[in-house]
Order: sequence, then structure tokens, then C-alpha cells
Amino acid sequence: MAKRSLLIAVDGPAASGKGTIAKALARHYDLPHMDTGLLYRAVALALWRFGGDAGNEFEALRAVEGVHQIDPDDEELRTETVGKLASRVSAYPAVRAALLDRQRLFAAQKGGAVLDGRDIGTVIAPDATAKLFVTASPEVRAERRLKEILARGVTAHFEDVLADIRSRDERDKGRDAAPLVQADDADLLDTSDLGVEEAIAAAIALVDKRIS
Ligand code: CDP
Repeated sequence: MAKRSLLIAVDGPAASGKGTIAKALARHYDLPHMDTGLLYRAVALALWRFGGDAGNEFEALRAVEGVHQIDPDDEELRTETVGKLASRVSAYPAVRAALLDRQRLFAAQKGGAVLDGRDIGTVIAPDATAKLFVTASPEVRAERRLKEILARGVTAHFEDVLADIRSRDERDKGRDAAPLVQADDADLLDTSDLGVEEAIAAAIALVDKRIS
């Protein structure tokens, strides 16, 4: 019997655990996974490398043209500087439009896929079989992000990381183009009090409920 197509959208704010959950869902359901944040991060990194101005939509759009193959192991993609820059370039409608096809094509694969980001359930895959909106309190997210930064051997302070998380939330939620918002038909998953395995189990349970 042919495998049923299963498209899963995972959205949420910075350091909510959406990436970990999306990866685990992809493994569990044997689906390909796309971390769409990497696309915006790659644009930000390209812009930064050619010394472009993030305040200029045309220069940000030029940076999209410089993004062909993305190396997910490129450590520079994961830095906080690039994350912040990504949040700025991703507010430009032209940048979002230029990255749309890649994401929609990935979502349209036979058999399905898992995509995580900010606008998967609302813009990229509004017809997804299951949609999760993963969140956690800003303090818990700042604590997680701080651990990741320290693990990379970089010095950071909780208060600064928390301030960054808050300003990124504000920008991602407040922009006109595809703002971060829970889709009407998405299931909310608050991971504030959940360990990694508990969060993954809760996510699988929510998806299973949507499938059945
Ligand atoms: O994991 P973290 O939230 O720090 O970063 P990310 O998911 O890699 O996304 C980096 C930035 O890209 C976010 O702050 C968003 O502004 C933007 N983004 C977006 O606008 N739409 C997406 N589908 C994914 C990311």
C-alpha cells in the first residue's frame, strides 16, 4: 500500500524547541525535513559577507541571489549575529517572496515533509495535515539559547540573551510580511516545563491525533 502523504508544519519563536521537535518528527514519520530558518540565515550571512546594508531591501534581495547551496554545518550560520540579521532581512516581502518557491516545492514532495519556521502553517503550507505552534516562556528560551552559546565556547550573559530573544520576538511578530502567529488550526505546544523527550512525545501525540 502506498504511504499516505503527511505534511507537518512546525512554527514558533526563537529557541522554543521547534527545530529539535521538527527533526524528531521527521525521524519518527520517516519524512524529509527543512529548517527554513537556515534559508533566512544564509541570506543574512551572504549579505554580511559582501558588506551589504541590512537596512536596504534591494541589497538584502541581492544577497538572496548569492544563496545557492546551503551548508547546514557552516557554524557561522548558527551565530547570534547572523540570527539577528536574519530576523531583519526576513521582514522584507521581496526576500520572503524570493524564498517562497523553494519552501513550497519542498512541502509538495510526494509522501510529505516536515518544515519548521515562522510562517509554515500560515503561508508556506496552509493545507498541512498537522500544524504545531511550539512555544515557551522568554526566560526558558533565553536559558536554552544561553546554554547553546556557551557550548560553542562563546561568552554570553543571561540578561543580554533574554533581551535579544524579546526584541527578536517583537520584530518577528510585529512585521507586516508573514508575521509570527499561531495558525487558527494549529495545536499549541508549550515546552516551558518539558524536557526534550517529553516535548517530542507530546508533539508525536498531537500529530497522531491529527492523522487518526
Ligand atoms: O532558531 P532561531 O529562532 O534562533 O532562528 P531561526 O529559526 O533559524 O530563524 C532566524 C530568523 O529567520 C527568525 O528570527 C525569523 O525572523 C526568520 N525566519 C522567518 O522569518 N521565517 C521562517 N520561516 C524562518 C525564519
